[in-house]
Amino acid sequence: VNHLLGIKYLNKKDIQLIFETADHFKEVINRPIKKVPSLRDITIANLFFENSTRTKLSFELAEKRLSADVINFSSGQSSVKKGETLIDTVNNILSMKVDMVVMRHPNPGAGVFLSKHVNASIVNAGDGAHEHPTQALLDSYSIREKLGEVKGKKVVIVGDILHSRVALSNIFALQLQGAQVMVCGPKTLIPKYIDKLGVKVENNLIKALNWCDVANMLRVQNERMDISYFPSTREYTQQFGVNKDLLNSLNKEITIMHPGPINRGVEITSDVADSKQAIILDQVQNGVAIRMAVIYLLASKIKQ
Ligand code: CP
Repeated sequence: VNHLLGIKYLNKKDIQLIFETADHFKEVINRPIKKVPSLRDITIANLFFENSTRTKLSFELAEKRLSADVINFSSGQSSVKKGETLIDTVNNILSMKVDMVVMRHPNPGAGVFLSKHVNASIVNAGDGAHEHPTQALLDSYSIREKLGEVKGKKVVIVGDILHSRVALSNIFALQLQGAQVMVCGPKTLIPKYIDKLGVKVENNLIKALNWCDVANMLRVQNERMDISYFPSTREYTQQFGVNKDLLNSLNKEITIMHPGPINRGVEITSDVADSKQAIILDQVQNGVAIRMAVIYLLASKIKQ
């Protein structure tokens, strides 16, 4: 496979290999000289058709740490605004001798579509409400780092499951590694297909938090929200928001994750987000090593 389009295309061994490669790169980026010359002969285009802070910057940093040549494209400042199609856009960029494309796009399946029409390795950096594979990889990697292993751990994904590519990729990745997965949120934000994925469903947050080792608190995706789906923000926070008093009332200490960006005071309060129980900035830090591993492993196949 010359692409990373979703976790659903990976197996357990692929994830192990990515993690072992990321372990090496994590050590590299902690050295005084944070770069390796591995990808001096590779050119990568980062194409972002949707806003991003963490994913965009950590892909760019990962590519630069590997010594690849990097170009960055944001659709808002591009000729997409003049009506150029996705395939024309990408083929024009590839004609400048680009080897790999990292793409975030609002449409589910955009990466799969592109992989069928252009001659380059494609890495999905988030496609609508479908998948966000590198986020799920860095999330599992962060659980492994904090708790020793992912296998056997109980992970609850809380909140807006319906609009979340992070949820779907995490469910696939956690199950491949032998974790137990629960989703918890308002009924209106739990998709109907969830029954087919073999996850537990819980609408009571306190029960979910008492069950789990790790709670991954999703962002409420207001930009994808139809108003009829949603309890009011105040109702959501009352029923599904996590604050320090709630965490202190549980029968154990759990690990708190969030993919970012945080709606502070909605999904979690600041005293939770900034506490020692939260590994939110570790997730972001691990994103660089994970993305280095993914790009390095894909580029090795290009060079063969
Ligand atoms: N977690 C995540 O994908 O964040 P960005 O949207 O800022 O990239």
